[in-house]
Amino acid sequence: MTTPDPADARPTAPEDDVAPPDQTERVILQAAEEAGGLAAPRDLLVVGDATGALTAAALAALAGHDRARVRSWTVSRTEALALAERFAAEVATGRLLLPTAREPLSLDEFAAGTDARLMLARLPKALSALEELARGAAALAGGDGRDMVIVAGGRTKHMTRRQNEVLARSFAEVRASRGLGKSRALIAAAPRPDRPAPQAASGEAAVPVRGQERVLPLRARGGVFGGARPDAGSLLLLEALDRALVAGEVTAEAAVDLGSGSGLLTAYLAAALPAAQVLGSDDDADAVASTRATLAAAGLERDGVAVTWDAALAGAEADSADLVLLNPPFHDGTAVDATLVQGLLDAAARVLRPGGQLWFVHNSHLRYRPELAARIGPVRQRARDRRFTVLSAVRD
Ligand SMILES: C[S@@+](CC[C@H](N)C(=O)[O-])C[C@H]1O[C@@H](n2cnc3c(N)ncnc32)[C@H](O)[C@@H]1O
Repeated sequence: MTTPDPADARPTAPEDDVAPPDQTERVILQAAEEAGGLAAPRDLLVVGDATGALTAAALAALAGHDRARVRSWTVSRTEALALAERFAAEVATGRLLLPTAREPLSLDEFAAGTDARLMLARLPKALSALEELARGAAALAGGDGRDMVIVAGGRTKHMTRRQNEVLARSFAEVRASRGLGKSRALIAAAPRPDRPAPQAASGEAAVPVRGQERVLPLRARGGVFGGARPDAGSLLLLEALDRALVAGEVTAEAAVDLGSGSGLLTAYLAAALPAAQVLGSDDDADAVASTRATLAAAGLERDGVAVTWDAALAGAEADSADLVLLNPPFHDGTAVDATLVQGLLDAAARVLRPGGQLWFVHNSHLRYRPELAARIGPVRQRARDRRFTVLSAVRD
């Protein structure tokens, strides 16, 4: 997920509560004007618009061009739904297209057939996400020599030469814009015909499955959390959970991996509970594609195993699961977005049947026991090391 830097200096918001573009968004729009302008009578692409400001600017630029559309794509279902709510009128008239279908679409699938030549984007945090974005954008130019220009901005302190190099693998011309305050944009033009094809990254994880060590392959697309490497917290959770399964302390006919990332926990559930319904679910379209690729690589696709693109299990039925696994998102490794985790705990509480269990892993220096007790039910500590703590809670 791409989140705006809270340090972005916003001018005072107007009364109607729609914030004006922040500094990064302003530098993107300024660089786009200098690169030829937004107001061409053709589609505009927007990517990763966490605030809606770029989409709003693109819609304003296309006013009066009846056949041109704004296509605003994001990996985050939460972001896509927020844009759909804010721009409901423009969606209804067909002026704005958003990836709000149940199934996630890659950028080039979503924008297939567009005549757009310009993409406005916030630079994603992960280089692998930028790589996929660049390849997706270059693919949209087609093989007929049409140009495609990406204008992608970020906070200068988060920008590195590696981002230029990644863009340069798919585009022949890459340069930086003038800075605006503490933000800057990169401009990439002239898609390379010889760019490499998109590929999932590969890795593996050794995990106990009902007491036997098994090596599960991992696949990672775009900016998915952790890439194709297993997360140490997830490994600690799986060791403890597997002991409990072997001991008969945990049984499940329906199990959920909430926030499945590259799919390690989903793959474990599919392997360790061969008769169970297993659901992997994530807000991030890259995670959904990664989890599916991991299941396929492990030979664990079967009836009853599903992966959904969903914000906090919104599409899952209440009281439908006996077991929910959650390795929640932490920001910058230490600081926690408490409301995000609370929302996911509430989602787990809603989806668990009474008597069902949540298994949860968190950084050991943080305290989650009271939160789980209040939102789910009685809590037990299942494992702890210097970095991570695994808790289980029974839904009361
Ligand atoms: C720390 S990662 C864990 C990934 C994986 N389960 C693992 O153990 O390696 C947290 C995951 O939660 C997802 N996530 C964040 N907010 C979410 C939400 N509201 N609904 C569903 N998933 C969410 C993120 O996209 C990310 O893939």
